[in-house]
Amino acid sequence: MPHEVSGVVARTKGDPVSVEKIHIPDPGPGEVVVDVQACGVCHTDLHYREGAINDEFPFLLGHEAAGIISQTGADVTNLTEGDFVILNWRAVCGQCRSCLRGKPQYCFSTHNAQQKMTLDGQDLSPALGIGAFAEKTLVAAGQATKVSDEVEPEVAGLIGCGVMAGLGAALNTGGVTRGDSVAVWGCGGVGDAAIEGARIAGAHTIIAIDLDERKLAWAKDFGATHTINSSDMDTPQVIEAVQGLTGGNGVDVAIEAIGLPSTYEQAFYSRDLAGTVVLVGVPSPEMRIDLPLIEVFGRGGALKSSWYGDCLPTRDFPMLIDLYLQGRLQLDRFVSEKIGIDEVENAFHKMERGEVLRSVVIM
Ligand SMILES: NC(=O)c1ccc[n+]([C@@H]2O[C@H](COP(=O)([O-])OP(=O)(O)OC[C@H]3O[C@@H](n4cnc5c(N)ncnc54)[C@H](O)[C@@H]3O)[C@@H](O)[C@H]2O)c1
Ligand SMILES: [Zn+2]
Ligand SMILES: [Zn+2]
Repeated sequence: MPHEVSGVVARTKGDPVSVEKIHIPDPGPGEVVVDVQACGVCHTDLHYREGAINDEFPFLLGHEAAGIISQTGADVTNLTEGDFVILNWRAVCGQCRSCLRGKPQYCFSTHNAQQKMTLDGQDLSPALGIGAFAEKTLVAAGQATKVSDEVEPEVAGLIGCGVMAGLGAALNTGGVTRGDSVAVWGCGGVGDAAIEGARIAGAHTIIAIDLDERKLAWAKDFGATHTINSSDMDTPQVIEAVQGLTGGNGVDVAIEAIGLPSTYEQAFYSRDLAGTVVLVGVPSPEMRIDLPLIEVFGRGGALKSSWYGDCLPTRDFPMLIDLYLQGRLQLDRFVSEKIGIDEVENAFHKMERGEVLRSVVIM
């Protein structure tokens, strides 16, 4: 039976989001309906509502979620009703040229549910193909990964986006390993997860860079060994500060977790020779960078971007839950507050003011 449930919708660019009654169809072949239990507020939701991702309004926001499978469509073999799942926004296809070459984490043809959720008969665009600031959501079966239900949903859901993106930026994309030096630009949920990843990997020096002292204090709790408040610094000063903390050399892995040309440039010049730059922050379409090609060549190493931390949900989500249950991964620290479904707009403002790492909507 189809459902009418409450969901958080961004109707037009820049306008405050609102809670609306939305329509969830029964799952078709390969689809499941999830009773969402918790969904974190990620900066990408705000990017959607600002029109910075695309203009396919109205958006059903929310994409960092955990919940219970309540209905399965035909041909769904990996899940059954009652399974506790974390949702992901890169369900791999198994058939594209990347999957076939054994690199499903880069799948070039990830998929979402075929059917549409709707608002007053109009198709909704679910954020990152999920749309989980809602009591129920419809996703492709490959977008739901079963994990241990010993974990609270507000904690498990975080792995579905920001935490995975940051951890993976360090562990998978950046390949941080024991003894490395790492710097992270932007200490929001994503940046702090990158710091946590660098700590778990055994990085020797972990430098957190942000404009906000409170964010830097939290970054230290996650394992930053040094902090740089760059609010009164220009780009050369930031580079000098990073070099000053690394014997004049720069870091092995420089992770940009904001999505700005200025901080990307800082990361580019703050890395050691043969170092790696990882861009995990999402830029908006009009942004440009201008780098001397001789510097790109002369510094060697790698300039990489990190889609979802280059994760493979079936491999990484249960593993991270295990690390959490063993007390080796600090996930609770990311949950700044639990809020109701009608408080998402307010949570965006708190995010902009730097008051939270993650506000998590509890359904
Ligand atoms: N690549 C991916 O798969 C992926 C996944 C999730 C989120 N993201 C992106 O990661 C980015 C961060 O997300 P978040 O949820 O952590 O956001 P956030 O807003 O919580 O954190 C951003 C942090 O950057 C700091 N900051 C802003 N401008 C700065 C500057 N000029 N110099 C230094 N610090 C600065 C802010 O003070 C804040 O602490 C966003 O662009 C988001 O869209 C990417
Ligand atoms: Zn594929
Ligand atoms: Zn996100």
